[in-house]
Amino acid sequence: MFKITIAGTGYVGLVTGVCLAEVGHKVTCVDVDEEKVNLMKKGISPIYEADLEELMRRNYNAGRITFTTDYKKAYKDADAIFIGVGTPELPDGSANLTYIATVARQIAESVEKDCLVVVKSTVPVGTNDKVEQFIKDFLVNDVKVEVASNPEFLAQGSAVHDTFCASRIIIGTESKWAEEMLKKIYEPFNIPIVSVNRRSAEMIKYACNNFLAMKISFMNDIANLCELVGADIEDVVKGMSYDERIGCKYLNAGIGFGGSCLPKDTKALEYLARQYGYELRTVKSAIEVNKEQKTLLFKKACRRLITFSGLKVAVLGLTFKPGTDDIREAPSLDNVPLLLDHGADIYAYDPVGINNFMKRYPEGQHGAGRITYVDNPEEALKDANVCFIFTEWKEIKTIEPAQYRKLMRTPLVYDGRNIYKVEDMSREGVEYYSVGRPGRPVKGFNGMY
Ligand code: UGA
Repeated sequence: MFKITIAGTGYVGLVTGVCLAEVGHKVTCVDVDEEKVNLMKKGISPIYEADLEELMRRNYNAGRITFTTDYKKAYKDADAIFIGVGTPELPDGSANLTYIATVARQIAESVEKDCLVVVKSTVPVGTNDKVEQFIKDFLVNDVKVEVASNPEFLAQGSAVHDTFCASRIIIGTESKWAEEMLKKIYEPFNIPIVSVNRRSAEMIKYACNNFLAMKISFMNDIANLCELVGADIEDVVKGMSYDERIGCKYLNAGIGFGGSCLPKDTKALEYLARQYGYELRTVKSAIEVNKEQKTLLFKKACRRLITFSGLKVAVLGLTFKPGTDDIREAPSLDNVPLLLDHGADIYAYDPVGINNFMKRYPEGQHGAGRITYVDNPEEALKDANVCFIFTEWKEIKTIEPAQYRKLMRTPLVYDGRNIYKVEDMSREGVEYYSVGRPGRPVKGFNGMY
C-alpha cells in the first residue's frame, strides 16, 4: 500500500484517485477549487461518469480517499504524486503546460521525503524531462524526486470500467527505482504493464489518440465518397471489419470527433512535429476532414431549405458523445451558432448536457435566432420543421421512426450519428439524411441529398 497524492480532480485525476483507493492505496486528491473539494467531501462527484460517485463515496467512507485544497500537506510525505491536471489547447494548437508547471513548483516547495512524480496528463514529448528539471530547480528540501510518465487511456463515459479493464498500462521511467515503484502501485490491477522510457511513453499516448482520430476522419472521408458514388458506409464497414488487421471498432462515420482529447491531441502533435521542422501530413488531413465534417449536415440542410428563419428546429443531443455531460468540441457547438445566425428557433434536448450548454448559450434570443431547452425529445420534436441529431444517446436512439412523422410539422431529419436504418425512416415517410448512406427521400421529393 502506498501513500498517493493526486493533483487535479478532473476526469483523469479523480478517476485515477478513486480507482487507486479502491485497490487499497491511501489516496489524497488535491484541487485548487474549494467548491469542488467540498462537493466531493459530501460524496458528490463533480463530473458525470458512470459508477464514479458510488466508488468515490465507498472509498471516502472507508477512509481510503480524502479531498483537500491544502497541497502542501498533501505533497509533503507522499510516496507518489500523480499529476492529472489539464493541458488545454492554446490558440496556436500547442498544449498549455501552465497547470503542470504550477503543480511541479508546488511539489518542489512541499516534498519532505523521496517521492516519485507521475505525469498522467497528456503532455508533449520531452515534457517529463522538463518537469523533472523544473522540480529539481525549485526543490527546497534535500530529497530525491524522480518523474515518470504514465499516460491515461480511459474514455469518458466508461472511465471507471476502462481503468479496471485497461488493455495495458504504459509506464515511462528512467530508473529501476521508478519502474519498480510504479509496477508495485499497479500490481493489484493485474493488467499487463508495458515499460518503456519516458519519451516513448509520452509518444505512445499521442500516437494512440492521433491514430484513433485518423481512423474516424478516414471513415468520414470514405463515407462522404460513398454518398457520391452510391455506396453505403454501413455495408462498407461490415465488409472491412472482417479483416483483423483493421478490426471492427472505432469505424463509425458521422459528424466528426469531439471531446477534450482527440481534437486537442491532434493539434498538439501536429504542432510538436512542426517545431521539429517536420510536417505530419496524415494528422493534418485528419484535422481538416474533421473540421469540414462537423457542419456537413448543416450544409446539406441549406441545400434543401430556403431559410431557417421562422422554423422550429429540434436539436437532439448536445454532448460530444453519450455517457458524459461534457460538451467540449461537441458538434452541437459548431452547429447551434450557425443555426442561430440563420434565424432558427431551436428546441434543444440532451439528457445530461443542457446545464453545460446553457452556460455557453443561455435560453432566449441570440441575434436572429432563439434557443429553448426541453426535458424530453418529444417536446423538441413537436411541430418542428426540421430535426438535427448530434449525439447517439439511448434516449434518442429509442425514438421510433413513426414518432418523427407523428410529432413534427414536416418530418425532415438530419442524423449525424447514423442511428436509423434508411429504409425504416423511408417506410415511415420521414425525409431522412445521414452520413455516407444513400439518401432515400420520401416519394415526390427530388432535391439533392
Ligand atoms: C479518447 C480515447 O478514446 C481514449 O482512449 C483516450 O484515453 C481519451 O480520448 C483521452 O485522451 O483522454 P474520449 O475523448 O473520451 O476518449 O472519447 P471517444 O469515445 O474516443 O470519442 C471521441 C470522439 O470520437 C467522439 O466525439 C465520438 O463521437 C467520436 N467517434 C468515436 C466517432 O465519430 N466514431 C467512432 O467510431 C468513434
